[in-house]
Formats: sequence, C-alpha cells, structure tokens
Amino acid sequence: MRTLHDFNHGWLFAARPLPLDADDSLFDPVTIPHTNILLPHHNFDNADYQFISTYRKHFHLPEARAGRFVSLDFDGAMTAVTVWLNGHRLGEHAGGYVPFSFDLTPFLHENAENTIQIELDSTERPDIPPNGYVVDYLTFGGIYRDVRLRLVEPAHIDGIFAKPKHVLTRPALDVDLRLRNLRGEIRECRLRVTLDGDEHGFQYETLIFLPAGGDYNATVEMPPLHDIQLWTPDQPKLYTLNVYLYGGQTLLDHAWTRVGFRDAVFKDDGFYLNGERFPLRGLNRHQTYPYIGGAAPARLQRRDADILKDELGVNLVRTSHYPQSPHFLNRCDEIGLLVFEEIPGWQFIGDSDWKALVLRDVEAMITRDRNHPSIILWGVRINESPDDDALYSATNNLAHRLDPTRQTGGVRNFTTSRKLEDVFTYNDFSNTIIDPVVTPYLVTEFSGHMFPTKTWDNELRQIEHALRHARIQDRALAVPGVSGAIGWCAFDYNTHRELGSGDRICYHGVSDIFRLPKFAADFYASQGLKTPFVRAATFWTQGDRDEGGNDPLWVFSNCDEIEVYIGDELEGRYQPDRETFPNLPHPPFRVPNLSLIRLWGVHYQDLRVVGWMNGEPAAEHRIAADGLPAQLMLIPDDEVLQADAIDMTRVVIKLADKYGNRLPYATAAVALTLEGNGTLIGENPFPMVGGQAALYVRAGRTPGVLTISAHVITSLARGNLTAAAQITCR
Ligand code: GAL
Repeated sequence: MRTLHDFNHGWLFAARPLPLDADDSLFDPVTIPHTNILLPHHNFDNADYQFISTYRKHFHLPEARAGRFVSLDFDGAMTAVTVWLNGHRLGEHAGGYVPFSFDLTPFLHENAENTIQIELDSTERPDIPPNGYVVDYLTFGGIYRDVRLRLVEPAHIDGIFAKPKHVLTRPALDVDLRLRNLRGEIRECRLRVTLDGDEHGFQYETLIFLPAGGDYNATVEMPPLHDIQLWTPDQPKLYTLNVYLYGGQTLLDHAWTRVGFRDAVFKDDGFYLNGERFPLRGLNRHQTYPYIGGAAPARLQRRDADILKDELGVNLVRTSHYPQSPHFLNRCDEIGLLVFEEIPGWQFIGDSDWKALVLRDVEAMITRDRNHPSIILWGVRINESPDDDALYSATNNLAHRLDPTRQTGGVRNFTTSRKLEDVFTYNDFSNTIIDPVVTPYLVTEFSGHMFPTKTWDNELRQIEHALRHARIQDRALAVPGVSGAIGWCAFDYNTHRELGSGDRICYHGVSDIFRLPKFAADFYASQGLKTPFVRAATFWTQGDRDEGGNDPLWVFSNCDEIEVYIGDELEGRYQPDRETFPNLPHPPFRVPNLSLIRLWGVHYQDLRVVGWMNGEPAAEHRIAADGLPAQLMLIPDDEVLQADAIDMTRVVIKLADKYGNRLPYATAAVALTLEGNGTLIGENPFPMVGGQAALYVRAGRTPGVLTISAHVITSLARGNLTAAAQITCR
C-alpha cells in the first residue's frame, strides 16, 4: 500500500554551501516551509536572499519498506537544488515554482540512519525562468513548500486526471489514469474507481494487465452519474474520486483527487460559468509575504484565498506570474474562487535551454493542477513577453494535449500580438478598457504602476486609486466582448530596485503588503460581499485635502441607500452614483456639498454613515472627528494553531480612533512580546505604516497558550496604549 509521510520536520540548515561531511554543529534546526533568510518588510537588498545554502536531514525510514519504492516529493524549492542521499548524488532540479521528486530507493538504508543533503541555489540564475533580465517581483529563497516521503508498491497509480463532461446536460466523468509497473514481469491487477465512496453506485471496476517495467495509460468512463450537484462560486460542491488498484485480494494502491462539476468557457461575448454569462472581476496575487518571502505555510496560503473572496469580494484571481501553492489552490476549490494560473516568467525569453524549462513548467503546472475545478484558464505565455510563435505554439499545443477540457490564454501588453491561444488575455494600462481587438478577451491587468498608492498617501490619492479601479471595473462590464478585468493587484509586494518605490515595494495593491485594506479594497468589497457593507473612503479630516474639506465624500457600499450623519445631525440620504458608474452592481455613493465652511469648528463632529438594505439599516461606519489614537488594536487571524512548529497566523496591529479606524499618519512604534512556546516573526518594535501593520506568530511544538502583548513604546506618544491577545496551540 501507498503511504505518505509529512517530511517537514527535523531539517538542519546552514546559510552557505557545506560539504557532505560537514559537522552537524554547523547547521541550525529548521522546519519547512522555510525561508533562507528573514527580512524586513522593505528597505532590504534583494541580494540578501541570493546565496547558496545547505539543508540536511537524518532519518530512519518511518516504517518497513516491504519491497516498496521510496521517493521524496518536494512541492517547491527556490530556485535550484542538487540532492544527495547517503553520499550518492541523486540529481538536480531547476525552477522554484513546480514540484519535483527524487527516487531514494537505490541508496536507502532500510535499517539504519539515512542522510539527505540538499544544496539550494537561491541566486537569480539567468538560465532559469523567470530570471535573465529584470523581474518585477522577488523570488526569495528556501525550501519554501512542503516535503513528503512517499512509499509505493512496484505496481502503483502514478496520475489521475478526472475530466467531467456534459456537465449541464448528462453529467459524466472520464478518468485518465497513469499506472506504473516497476517490476520486470506483467502484472494482472483489478482496478476500481469510485466517486464519493460506494454509496452512490458511481463505481467502475475492471481487470487490467500492467506491462513489465512500464507505464499503462487508461481512460475509464464512469457509469452515468445522477443528481450531480454543480460546483458554483456560491456552492462549490466537491466530490472525491478514489482509485484502487488490487493484485488478487491485496490492495496495492489507493490514490484520490477532488472533482468539481462545472462548465467554464470563454466565448466571443464573454465568460460563461455553468451556462450563464458570468462577468469576471478579479485581482492579481503574488505569493510573497513580508519577512518570510514565499515560505508561508498552509494556513497563510488558505487565508489569502479567503481574503480575496471574503474581504475583497472578487470572483477570480490570477496567480501572477507562476504556479502557486497547492494549499492556495485547494482553498480556491473549497470556497469557489475562480483561478487563472500561469507559468513563471516576466517580459523576458531566454535561450533554447531556457525555453525547454518553459515547456517543462507548462507540463508540471498542468499535470499538478488540472483537477482543480477553480482553475478556468491556463496561462501559457511568459507574462508580457514579445511574440515568439514557435515557443507559444508549442506551449499552447502542449497545454491542449495535457488538458483538452480547458482553454488557454497568454498574457501580453501589445494589441498587435498574434493570438495563438483560445483567449486573448491583455494587460490594459490605458486607464480605461479599450475595445477588444479580438475575442474571446480578458483584461488581465490594469492600474498598478499607473497609480502606485500607499496607505499613508493623502486621502485624495487613495480615493482616486479606488475610483480608478471602480471606473475600469465599471467599463469592463459595458465593453462588448470583454469577459472581465483583473486589477493589478491584490497586495503590495516586494520587488527589485529597478521597479517599485525604491524601498523594494511596489505599492500597487488594493491592500498593503500585510494584506490590510486601502480604500480600493473597500471598493472591491462593496461589489462582491454578500453581507451588508459600508465604508466611507475618508480619514475625516478638515485640512488634509487640497483646499480643505471633504467634498465630495465617497462611500463604498453594497446597500441600496446610505444616510450620512455629522454628529447627530442627518446630512442627507443618498443613492448610488449610477450616472458615473452605470454598470457596476453596486456603484459608489458620491456625497456632495460637505463644505469646509459648514463643518468648520464646533460643527465638525464624528461622521456616521448608515447603509440601508431592503428598507432597514443594515451596516454602519463611524469615524471620529478628534483624530486621536484611542486604542491600540491587536488582532490575530486565528485563535487556535497547530502545535507543530510550522503553523502560523498573522497578527494585525492598528493604532486606531475610538471606532477602530486606523490613523493613517500614525508613526508610533509598537513593541510586541510573546509568552509561551511560539515565535514572533517580523520587525519588532514596529513603527506603524499607515496606522497599521502585521507580524506573524509561529506555533511551537508543545501545546499551550501563547500570550501576545503589544504596547506603544514611542516616548511622548499619547496615552498608555496596550493590547493583548491569546492563541491556543493544540
Ligand atoms: C505589468 C506586469 C506586472 C506588474 C505591473 C505593474 O506590466 O505584468 O507584473 O509589474 O505591470 O503595474
């Protein structure tokens, strides 16, 4: 039988190349996901993570091998590895965004200790995509995704591709299987495939003969399926497809995948999901985090998907510009967030060896991810690269061969680019939406560098940033042939000095690098959230805008109407601005005539905006007029973590007014302490950034309670602000 063992624990790490016989004392103990260096959230040199490091792990086989083959599966290491087992060189892998495996069997000690050693090259190697020229993001370094030890019988299941078909009429399921027989003789086996266990009777069984020492590919057609529930963004129903391989009565292997039944197609007039026109409203996501680079464990990966769906209300994410974590994609399946996934690269195409890696990446991405119902489109072109018909015909053909069920796109930034893929995916930086030159058509980026915006920028700039997203999303809904628009981008991200604001950040996010909202995030929330939502896009000051005042006041809300109060006085009742935004489901509210003169002095009081839905007050946003830091807020995303020395959660700190609004110009330094078995990760003390910031807490390996305390340490800062929170590790 197959067994899988989590192999993330018990590693040793040295931040330099070390020989195989180097003493263990030269290493530090670490767990995986691991970053080769912890960095501040900005103002670092990207050379800081570019070095060669060494990982080592001593291990005994966790169970008897019993004739099985043993391999080590890596979900991703940045950027290139060379691996040795017990002094024998097993091989190399180049490329940080796709999984790879090494067969340990030939050199394994079955009854004694084994030592695996890995040399990891985290330099920006020009021979490996995305590198070769300047790239607008950082790759960071480390074995930054999970590692597993896998034991399989000589006859085993090597791949499953579940292909739902006729989903809207007569749901059916074809299953492509790759089986493998590593023994030198033919093997008679029984194959059983079930959907969601046996109870539905969706079950298939057959006898097969696996050829000696080779692969066996089969397509199994499941018997007719009844009462299949569709996978939809609101109800993302997932089934489990189980594949069993028997030799006689013995179960040799069991492998499984999740399946979602949905019909997703880009047509000339737009995108259709399950037969209905479905306008796409998306944001781009980079996989990097402050301090830890790419080394975010499962919980943080899943949380990003939740933020996109529940806080930013988008229905689509583009994994710009590379395949992202399996944990992130699994969560997208579970919550019904659509995904456009693409291969690694940025504007540059290298030589023929480099191009071979591009094809390898297409293959690795699609074979890894083609069972995710959330994925609706493959990106098979290096983002914004020049046309290369030979290369992109090859990537496109390969994608279609590996997955005949999905369309392809290839992101470019010039309209004269030749359309080789199914969907013309275009980065439109015209500050509007241009008419499609060819269809099907999807806008894959807009805004971004056209209007970088920081959380502490003047309110007018932050409003304009939000309104640009609003105007462009509005227009995307009106221009014929446009399937939707994916804004650049969800979160601020670290980048090279040649790009961004010079401090190694691109401030292009609708949220900051800590995933905390700017006004533009509130705009997105107002479009997609199902629960009543109202946020005024203001810091409610009298003298911070040019010429003073607050005219007009913009409010993002999904409510039918809003009331605006100043102090206790009702200023008025307002409707969404349908004139400016005729196409958005929830146009922003424009509240005019809040003039400085009328509000000046004693009249200048707290702002209260009430959102009305179906004739009832449903949501409220208040902002204090006194501008004082009334509270230090300390908000962990989770109350419970796993006590495994890997699990992490974000802890948000905010210097806020009495209603909890961040004070955008607060610079006070906040110091955090942690009591208990866990670690704080981040700059500490932290001087506020736009009145907010976040650190991360990693659980230790012993269960218990973590107490986190925060206090303002800047001398002369007003008040004696402190906050505390607890997290239980189990
Ligand atoms: C695009 C590019 C993105 C990002 C963005 C900034 O050209 O594809 O990766 O750099 O510009 O606006």
